[in-house]
Amino acid sequence: MKPQEITPLPTHIAFIMDGNGRWAKKRGLPRTAGHREGAKTLKKLLRDIEDLGIKYATFYAFSTENWKRSEDEVSTLMKLFEENLDDLVNYQSENVRLRFIGGRERLSEKLQKKMADAEEKSREKTGLTVTLAINYGGRDDIVRAAKRAAELSKDGFLDPSDITEDGFGRLLYTEDIPDVDLMIRTGGESRISNFLLWQISYAELWFTDTLWCDFGRRELEQALSDFAGRNRRYGDAK
Ligand code: IPE
Ligand code: IPE
Ligand code: MG
Repeated sequence: MKPQEITPLPTHIAFIMDGNGRWAKKRGLPRTAGHREGAKTLKKLLRDIEDLGIKYATFYAFSTENWKRSEDEVSTLMKLFEENLDDLVNYQSENVRLRFIGGRERLSEKLQKKMADAEEKSREKTGLTVTLAINYGGRDDIVRAAKRAAELSKDGFLDPSDITEDGFGRLLYTEDIPDVDLMIRTGGESRISNFLLWQISYAELWFTDTLWCDFGRRELEQALSDFAGRNRRYGDAK
């Protein structure tokens, strides 16, 4: 399908990239092999997302709950983030802005530095904004924003009566990124798993049984076509 054939497109599309472990298990491989393959899917899909003309794409790579996994799986995932960041930084030569959301203090210094460098180098890019959620939790996001609001208020910079939805939204990790229009979850589960809770208040949701490693352009176009046919009422009676 040609990009111009799907309208309207979501401005912001978010992905819960689930099913890597099951993809590997089906092949008799360790879970970590699924994560390696999943990173390839992500990089391939970025080309399609750019080609289709979507402005913001956000990917759930590691949740605040994923620390419960084995040490081996967690350390492989962290290594993969480091390795793939290098590829993504090179990819940025093409007008892509890279952003990260989630708590960084629990990540290695090396990874934190790579993340800061990638953001710094791509700050001025005007094309697709790619946001990777690493050690991200929707509740954590809201609690941190609430703490910041309380501190600003305590220090005399913010009157509690001036707190608005827009203003509070700017205290979240996603500060300048618009709300999610379409959220896609692969891997067969129909849940949000603590992803962008505030930011999906009026997002359209799209679930597929396809495992993340098997997800590609054809299915993305299917999700976009479905999205284009939805009637977003925002509580109105239209
Ligand atoms: C998603 O795939 C990737 C991460 C959570 C990091 P999973 O690892 O959750 O794969 P399944 O759901 O166990 O198949
Ligand atoms: C959600 O997947 C987190 C990411 C994709 C990073 P999980 O596999 O952790 O979600 P649950 O545990 O099935 O809800
Ligand atoms: Mg999973």
